[in-house]
Amino acid sequence: MTTPWPYPRWIAHRGAGKLAPENTLAAFRLGAQHGYRMFECDAKLSADGVPFLMHDATLERTTNGHGTGGDLPWSALAQLDAGGWHSRAHAGEPLPTLENLARYCIANGYFLNIEIKPTPGLEEKTGQVVGELSARLWQGQAVQPLFSSFKPEALAGARATAPHIPRALLLDTLWDGCFDVARDLGCVAIVCNHALWDRALVAQVKGSGLRTLSYTVNDDWAAQRLIDLGTDGIITDRVDLFSPAG
Ligand code: G3P
Ligand code: MG
Repeated sequence: MTTPWPYPRWIAHRGAGKLAPENTLAAFRLGAQHGYRMFECDAKLSADGVPFLMHDATLERTTNGHGTGGDLPWSALAQLDAGGWHSRAHAGEPLPTLENLARYCIANGYFLNIEIKPTPGLEEKTGQVVGELSARLWQGQAVQPLFSSFKPEALAGARATAPHIPRALLLDTLWDGCFDVARDLGCVAIVCNHALWDRALVAQVKGSGLRTLSYTVNDDWAAQRLIDLGTDGIITDRVDLFSPAG
């Protein structure tokens, strides 16, 4: 039987795609202004074990820092400018902790997809710490976040500390045994590169009781194809193009 699914179809990627500096609170606020009720974010650990939001392993693209983000303690990461690279309007925007975003989402009734994006080598540990923190922050909330990861070890870590928070396996390719791994991890969904879905794959995944989601969908034709295929969720950068009511 397919797991009950409380989440909306439309999910704003990294907050508001490219319209604001990705994975900053400014981005999530902008996504919300466009009507989005669910967000995707990327979470990793500081050197002292604080889950914070950043996509890349290294700091250069989206902050004024240098080197591997996970090598710095949170006290140093908290000083960085994570908005100036994007635009002058966002200069000085800080990196958020996962806890910052969790509080924003819980206070406003927003749904969150936490992509566990470990610094290489810290897969299981990152899953464990994100699981532990999320279980505490969302304790007693009717709707829990959705964990996802390309890394099965990260999902295993999250399951160890937060077995009740749903998990999804992210797939960029259909590697050998991926669906067995998703099943063994007790996943409730597969989040695929959208081009991978076709009628047969949707039927196979739905037939095994899993939900079907896609990333990163930025064109009308691609979104319509996924809706016609009967898939469950669409992660998009284009919060300005797609109305989340649709
Ligand atoms: O979680 C969906 C999507 O964000 C996965 O790819 O590289 O954008 O984190 P990426
Ligand atoms: Mg991501």
